[in-house]
Amino acid sequence: MVKVITYGTYDLLHFGHIRLLERAKALGDYLIVGVTSDDYDKTRGKINNQQSLMERVAAIKATGLADEIIAEEYEGQKIDDIRRYDVDIFAIGSDWEGKFDYLNEYCTVVYLPRTEGVSSSEIRAQNRKLTIGAIGEGGLCKKFIREAEFVNGVEYKECDDTLEGVDAVYVASHPEKHYDDVKRALIADKHVICESPVAMSLAQYEELTDLAKEKSLVLVDGIKTAYSTAYSRLLVVAKSGRIGDIVSVDATCTSLAGEAGEEGADLSKKQNSICAWGPTAMLPIFQLLGTQYKSKTIVTKLLNDSLNFDAFTKVDFVYDKAVASIKVAKAAKAEGELIITGTKGYIYVPAPWWKTDYFEVRFEDPTMNKRHFYQLDGEGIRYEIVAFAKAVENKKGNYYISDAVSKAIINVIQSFSKRDYTRI
Ligand code: CTP
Repeated sequence: MVKVITYGTYDLLHFGHIRLLERAKALGDYLIVGVTSDDYDKTRGKINNQQSLMERVAAIKATGLADEIIAEEYEGQKIDDIRRYDVDIFAIGSDWEGKFDYLNEYCTVVYLPRTEGVSSSEIRAQNRKLTIGAIGEGGLCKKFIREAEFVNGVEYKECDDTLEGVDAVYVASHPEKHYDDVKRALIADKHVICESPVAMSLAQYEELTDLAKEKSLVLVDGIKTAYSTAYSRLLVVAKSGRIGDIVSVDATCTSLAGEAGEEGADLSKKQNSICAWGPTAMLPIFQLLGTQYKSKTIVTKLLNDSLNFDAFTKVDFVYDKAVASIKVAKAAKAEGELIITGTKGYIYVPAPWWKTDYFEVRFEDPTMNKRHFYQLDGEGIRYEIVAFAKAVENKKGNYYISDAVSKAIINVIQSFSKRDYTRI
């Protein structure tokens, strides 16, 4: 019996896939189809799949062409599979010409001509046509525009104040202007993804979320870290009990790019430390310990009094059975790490933890330590855009940052704005 194996993502199964499978099957007597898992695809830079692994497997099954379907989950699995299933022929589309010659050592490699004029990427782009404009200037917008190019079906379009010609808006203006900008976008019937904090007060935030709901629009809190794989896996590990009960979460975020501390810098145009870093630093605290803390204390060192511009701020939270702290600064420097302390061990995320692809679970006995690595592309921004596009498509809110977390973040920033702090 001649065994043939082929691999692919097979998202939104199309004619090109079926033709490939038919020809692969005709090469032998038994066809094994390897369908790539979402995680493995992500590491290959395919972040856009519209269908889950199970849906994609079901579609292949329904063609009746596969004698066996397996999931492809890691790099190097092809060699393992060829040995394990005693495969004679490895077949793949000609877009991979030459890339799998190294498998000739194990079986015969056949490249089949790719069908012209059809691809999953194109179908995804047709299914999901979302034009996004941007409000705000500077680095954040530039990064967002660059990253949007990696997401099928999402297109950045320049827009003026009327916001005409776009379906959605990315808001990255000065935090003091977020409320006005988001409101303007919602009134113009645009979906919104806004850098955190979405507003400077709870009353403003609630007004915006009510407006979005009333108009069936999506309003998403854009903290890129929330969308990164390593960060979401870290939450799962921390909540799994592996490090026991969590007793402390401590996050530090600083950037001393010179800008804020520079002599003559126009601070009125810059974000203060608590707005620039507070939302990111508070994210793991509220996502791990909840938003119902018993008390909080804010201590700050101001760089400019009249602008309420902090050089450095520390916030301590006390919960029933845990504590937490953030240290944020734009005119002071510290190690940007995240440490989650548990009764059995701890999780350590090295600097800069907010864009990490790696974390470590550590114990008293170092032989028990475990390192976790995950692919991170584009600092997580492209995953954030995928999630936003999905939210718009499904007209659903944000699965990554709950309303309660957004509110808890704004609540702290509101206290800071009211100067409810101790100065040093
Ligand atoms: N394939 C093909 N003809 C096409 C599209 C895909 O022969 N028009 C083949 C590929 O060469 C591969 C298999 O089908 O052997 C699975 O490809 P996959 O990457 O899942 O499909 P694409 O449509 O190329 O997906 P994408 O646009 O996301 O790259």
